[in-house]
Amino acid sequence: MPENWWRSGVIYQIYPRSFQDASGDGVGDLEGVRRRLDYLVWLGVDALWLSPFYPSPMKDFGYDVADYCDVDPLFGSLADFDRLLAEAHARGLKVVVDLVPNHTSDRHPWFLASRRSLNDPKRDWYLWRDPAPDGGPPNNWLSHFGGPGWTLDETTGQYYYHAFLREQPDLNWRNKQVREAIHDAMRFWLRRGVDGFRVDVVSHLIKDALFRDNPPNPDWDGKGPDITRLTQFYSVNRPELPEVIIGLRSVVDEFPDRVLIGEAYLPIDQIVAYYGEHNDGLNFPFNFHLLQTPWRAGALGDLISRYEAALPQGAQPNWVLGNHDQRRVADRLGEAQARIAALLQLTLRGTPTLYYGDEIGIGKVIIPPERQRDPWGRNEAAFNVGRDPARTPMQWDGTDFAGFSRHEPWLPLSADHASRNVENMRFDEDSILALYKHLLALRRDHTALHAGAWRRLVAPEKTLAYERHFGDERIFVALNLDAAAALVQLPASGRLLVSTQGDRRDETTGVAVSLRGDEGVVILSSDCLT
Ligand code: NOJ
Repeated sequence: MPENWWRSGVIYQIYPRSFQDASGDGVGDLEGVRRRLDYLVWLGVDALWLSPFYPSPMKDFGYDVADYCDVDPLFGSLADFDRLLAEAHARGLKVVVDLVPNHTSDRHPWFLASRRSLNDPKRDWYLWRDPAPDGGPPNNWLSHFGGPGWTLDETTGQYYYHAFLREQPDLNWRNKQVREAIHDAMRFWLRRGVDGFRVDVVSHLIKDALFRDNPPNPDWDGKGPDITRLTQFYSVNRPELPEVIIGLRSVVDEFPDRVLIGEAYLPIDQIVAYYGEHNDGLNFPFNFHLLQTPWRAGALGDLISRYEAALPQGAQPNWVLGNHDQRRVADRLGEAQARIAALLQLTLRGTPTLYYGDEIGIGKVIIPPERQRDPWGRNEAAFNVGRDPARTPMQWDGTDFAGFSRHEPWLPLSADHASRNVENMRFDEDSILALYKHLLALRRDHTALHAGAWRRLVAPEKTLAYERHFGDERIFVALNLDAAAALVQLPASGRLLVSTQGDRRDETTGVAVSLRGDEGVVILSSDCLT
């Protein structure tokens, strides 16, 4: 049996609003993605994951779905989707789509029916509760985007629960018809040929049957957004969840070689349970710990070791450096360390998921208050939680709107777009884009990198070193997390294949390797050089 593509492949996330606008309205679309497929082939990724493009009032930019089985006119049509899929497949690229099963839009026909009356057949499809004795919300659960998680609906005098915006009512996953309806929506896309799903907030699907109050967060410092005041003990990651995930997986497994990936921001000991007790859960849950761990060599080394040790036998690892909800990696770490991060992500075990624009190092983008779009950022402005800076348009060339659109884009471009763009960087061997391309090619060419074991090596403070090996092939990785030079001892001499600084390549190295400040290198051990 050939290996599943997602075990050795690299996935590239596209936020469709911001990749390429073909229609000329300042918002990206599916036809735009299709026109850029050759870029993805050139870059060397194996699959793209498209954030939601379904019909939506766009209160949460597509994560409020009003129809699971169609394309919003803003992004094109089903015919555009089919064409994109066929042309991606013709180039050997897989296509993963977003599944948003926890909630719908409040404009979804299911919710419109559900809110109509207490007796509507769809009433139980959502989470309706009577008010508390004082007339307030049924319990203390909060919305992730600020304020209570419950909204009173005047028509019937009951509250409905929404983990996110009030325009995103949560579905009731204890209801069998809900499960079947979502399973059918999955089959709709699987039959069209999609290669899998990224499941939005999968840990939220089942809530406490008794709707008990969430306990206060003992670590709350009195600051931070509303949602952090409480732990999400009764609303997230409940014991009944595995059975729901088994259901999703069994639908995916009706079709050959598809993947089920899930979003869960949880500690390592909890995410590893998402693989399922009998490999019947997610093919892999996202691992967001590189986003949450202090960017220091010791902490990162310990994180990788802990994760490796916690993974069940045969489980596929994953590493994430950015997505549409997080600060850009080059903003968090600066470009020199963003290069180290790229090298780290693309030389660890598992399926790396890259985020569009990180390969050209898009960093901090200032969004003037009048151009802010993210509802969370607008609701809780004081906490600087706005996600717009991570969603700005891709920068393709040096023209006014960076080749993204002929019109003013929906969000501002990064200030350095005239120089930081694909056209400018693709032939510059020292650019971060060239580094990404080299790393992707190395990962594809060397089995040790895409399928080998991982072992941490002893290295001086502020540096991190490890080995990947498969059969006779051994590859060493040494990373300097500091601005001062460092000397790392490796188990063998070898040949330096790539440096984060672009200027060293195909150099012979001894067992002691000197690293410049902020430099990372990949070395092929001399054991396997002929
Ligand atoms: C997680 C998504 O990544 C985020 O963008 C969205 O706002 C929430 N889920 C709600 O769907």
